[in-house]
Amino acid sequence: MRVLVTGASGFVGGRLCAALESAGHEVRAMTRRPDEYRGAGVPVRGDVTDERGLIEAARDCEVACYLVHGLSDRDYRESDARAARSFARACAEAGVRRIVYLGGLGNGALSEHLRSRREVESMLTCAGVPVTVLRAAVVIGHGGASWSMLLSLVEHAPLILAPPEARTRCQPIAVADAVRYLAGAVENPKTAGKTYEIGGPEVLEYTQMLRRIAALQGRSTLVLPLPVPLPRSDWLSGQALAVLSGVNASLAEALLGSLDTEVVVHEDNGITTLMPFQRTGYDDAVLTALGERAAANRTK
Ligand SMILES: NC(=O)c1ccc[n+]([C@@H]2O[C@H](COP(=O)([O-])OP(=O)(O)OC[C@H]3O[C@@H](n4cnc5c(N)ncnc54)[C@H](OP(=O)(O)O)[C@@H]3O)[C@@H](O)[C@H]2O)c1
Repeated sequence: MRVLVTGASGFVGGRLCAALESAGHEVRAMTRRPDEYRGAGVPVRGDVTDERGLIEAARDCEVACYLVHGLSDRDYRESDARAARSFARACAEAGVRRIVYLGGLGNGALSEHLRSRREVESMLTCAGVPVTVLRAAVVIGHGGASWSMLLSLVEHAPLILAPPEARTRCQPIAVADAVRYLAGAVENPKTAGKTYEIGGPEVLEYTQMLRRIAALQGRSTLVLPLPVPLPRSDWLSGQALAVLSGVNASLAEALLGSLDTEVVVHEDNGITTLMPFQRTGYDDAVLTALGERAAANRTK
């Protein structure tokens, strides 16, 4: 089938293009800079702020995957909602039969960032093209923003004073498993109109995730939970983490704002039965991400 993958130059999109291509699909890899694109699929120019261009990019595609966010911009909530609406209308106009989207997990009181991801879900349905929504927490793999922030903390701070919100529970997923679910959703029309929560096999507090990264690297990093909250500035912490991890500062701030929202699978809606496979454990996901980084550094 012919599939449009937006965010093709990104962390998840790049891997999804490769997976779909090796499964025999014709992949249109959408990016704002097709001349610089070196990944799988045929590069096609597209910007989610340009609806006419999106119609051309999506024309004759059966499925379109939406893997774009504007979290690096300060006013991302409004621009991401507008972009998702434009994308939905362009898909309808181009005759796309289904949209597949990867958003964020989280129940109860959602952070600004997670509320924005939910708004994108509903905007994508606005033009009548059925949408498959997958929701994930932290995706573990080399190049992932949340993963890079966790790793940089462990690698730069011998002592991490963890505020109470660092004990929030999270269900991380290996990027290979997230991509497997996305590719499965692309290939299975029965997923149209459904929402699936996806996660790895373990639920961990962020403090446990940090400790296990340190242990796997043989580091003696101390993660000390603080019993009381410290005065909190996501802006300041975002600036610091941006320097350490290379992640854009506004994106780091948006992600930190979600630290006290539990991101755990409550309702998988049958996806583990529909697409059964052995999910990667947290330690193996971390070791794979570290291996990918080492391989990337060798080829630099
Ligand atoms: N990473 C995680 O841990 C995680 C966890 C849960 C959910 N997700 C979701 O997964 C999706 C993909 O995330 P990611 O981590 O792969 O993101 P990413 O690595 O930051 O990639 C984002 C992509 O968006 C594209 N983009 C940005 N602005 C654009 C615009 N105006 N028009 C067209 N493309 C634009 C960029 O492509 P160009 O610059 O080449 O145009 C870039 O490749 C997002 O919806 C995110 O919410 C990610």
